[in-house]
Amino acid sequence: MPDKEKLIEDHEYDGIRELDNPLPGWWLMTFYITVIFAVIYFGYYQLFGGPTLDEELSAEMSSIKAEQEKTEEAGELKTQEDYLALVSNPDAIAKGKAEFMTKCMPCHGDKGQGIIGPNLTDDYWIQGDGSIPAILKVMNEGVPDKGMPPWKGVIPADLEEDVAAYVYSIHGTNPPGAKAPQGQMIERR
Ligand code: HEC
Repeated sequence: MPDKEKLIEDHEYDGIRELDNPLPGWWLMTFYITVIFAVIYFGYYQLFGGPTLDEELSAEMSSIKAEQEKTEEAGELKTQEDYLALVSNPDAIAKGKAEFMTKCMPCHGDKGQGIIGPNLTDDYWIQGDGSIPAILKVMNEGVPDKGMPPWKGVIPADLEEDVAAYVYSIHGTNPPGAKAPQGQMIERR
C-alpha cells in the first residue's frame, strides 16, 4: 500500500495517483554543484574574457618554446675557452680517443688522417671552423647528405666533449698518408 502521507491529493488521472517522493539528497547536491559550475564556467569563459582554447594552446606552446630557448642558451654558453681545459686533461683525451677509435676511425683514420671522411688534423675545414664547439656540432648533427652520420645519442653524452677535445687535440700532427685538404683554410685561433 502506498504511503498515504506522500500521496498528492489534488490530482488523479484515470485512477492513477502520484506520490510526492523527494529526490535523494546526494542527487540534488550533485545537480546543484553542476548548476553552480555551469554558471561559473559560463561567466568566466563567455562573459569575463577567459582564454579560448586557441589562446590556451598558444600560451602552452610559447611556454614550451621559452623552455627550449633556455636549454639551448645554456648549451651555447659553453665556448671554446670552456672546453680548453679538457684538451690538457689526459684522462678526457684518453677517453675521447678510445671512443674515436671505435666510432670515427673507420672513416677518419686511426690518426685522423682521413679515409672516406676528411683529414681532421689539417687546417682545412668543410664544416665549421675547427673549434671544439664546431666539432661538437658536426659530430652531433652529422652531415647526412655527405656521409657523416649524426652521433647524438650514439656516443654517450658524458663522452661527447671528450671526443671533440680529442679531435681538436690531434690538429697539426701531420700523420702519414694524410688525405688531401678539403674545405676552407682556417687558421687556428
Ligand atoms: C661513415 C663514415 C664516417 C664516420 C664513421 C664518421 N665520420 Fe666524420 N665525416 C665523414 C664525412 C664523409 C665527412 C665530410 C662531410 C662533408 O663533406 O661535409 C665528415 C666530417 C667530419 C667533420 C668535419 C670535418 C671538416 O672538414 O669540416 C668532423 C669534425 C667529423 N666528421 C668528426 C667525426 C667524429 C668525431 C666521428 C666519430 C664520432 C666521425 N666523424 C665519424 C664521415 C664519417
